Amino acid sequence: MATDTPSALLGGLSAEDFLRDVWQQRPLLIRGAFPDFESPLSPDELAGLACEDNIEARLVEEHGSDGPWQVSHGPFDAAAFAQLAERDWSLLVQAVDHYVPEVAELLEQFTFLPRWRLDDIMVSYAPPGGSVGPHVDQYDVFLIQGSGQRRWQLGGKVPDDAPIVPGIDLRILESFAVDADQDWVLEPGDMLYLPPGWAHHGVSQSDDCMTFSVGFRAPSADESITSFADYVGELQTTSHRYGDAGIAPCEDPAEVDDAALARMRALILDTLDDPAQLAQWFGRVMTQPKYVDQLVPNDHPSDADELVAALQDGEILERAPGSRFAWRSLGNDRATLFVDGDGLNCSLALARRMASLAPVDATILDLPGASVLLTRLVDTGSLGWPMDDEEEWG
Ligand code: SIN
Ligand code: CO
Repeated sequence: MATDTPSALLGGLSAEDFLRDVWQQRPLLIRGAFPDFESPLSPDELAGLACEDNIEARLVEEHGSDGPWQVSHGPFDAAAFAQLAERDWSLLVQAVDHYVPEVAELLEQFTFLPRWRLDDIMVSYAPPGGSVGPHVDQYDVFLIQGSGQRRWQLGGKVPDDAPIVPGIDLRILESFAVDADQDWVLEPGDMLYLPPGWAHHGVSQSDDCMTFSVGFRAPSADESITSFADYVGELQTTSHRYGDAGIAPCEDPAEVDDAALARMRALILDTLDDPAQLAQWFGRVMTQPKYVDQLVPNDHPSDADELVAALQDGEILERAPGSRFAWRSLGNDRATLFVDGDGLNCSLALARRMASLAPVDATILDLPGASVLLTRLVDTGSLGWPMDDEEEWG
């Protein structure tokens, strides 16, 4: 999509307009964002996913047998669904884009944003009255109505410390004042964009309500500082220490004086202020898989010659579902390819190709270093042969 042309996905705004005027600033309702949208999966298929091991799923019952707003976690079985009331509950399944390629395809609509900002697509199903209560999310989200109808009511930007209902497993806002002009019933193909921190409440209006939430990731300052300090800390030698050459004689040897603090501050800030290390850390963090244990390393190291022969035979390698790729130039036609929390030094052309959606077929072998890199990525589980699907990823 050209970034300056109006787009139906963004309600007639260009990507440039949307990012300048809406993104992270205000909600936007887009009628018909996906014209003639057909849900890529049915409520039964969603329930099937919620019964699988290692798939993150929740059931939220507004009037559960154990009290109001009862949350239970998957995997579920048929009995769990059989005991549900006729209305007022929701099933939520995380990262459905990892398991259903047609759901992953929805992500291709959002290429005007960095792909490493995307987190996952959560899919919910709810009979009439089903919701997760009025709440606030810390992340941007595009809520796509997949089937049926959902009424969305918004309650404005709320402070971080807005009171939440105590004693339940959900973060439901204690008070929620609906903005009268932000109250809509979404039909299939409609989409609602919400910035972080915006109060919202979505209630199913039909017996086939499915909502696809395209969610983003944004590391918090607290986790970033800890994680970056750890990353840089590991690279330091034990001889890089506080030093006080040229110190003036102490007036009181028990005092922690300004000069000492200035020396310590310089040690910390100079060490942390390293753009190259920041890039290496950030690329790794933003490509961390959502579920690290879903990356299945190879039992036996692959043979690069066999891998080349298979590609030349017409086989195609696939990026593992949920694998995350990004790149950063190092200059001189070199780059770091970030894959699933790791960083690999390779040519810029190879990094860009691997981090794109282009198929990993024999043409990639024209790029120097490809066979070694591909072999490594097959061994870490970020790439695999499609015939391994059932075994490895199914
Ligand atoms: C839902 O799909 O029921 C909830 C999505 C959300 O509010 O974030
Ligand atoms: Co929400």
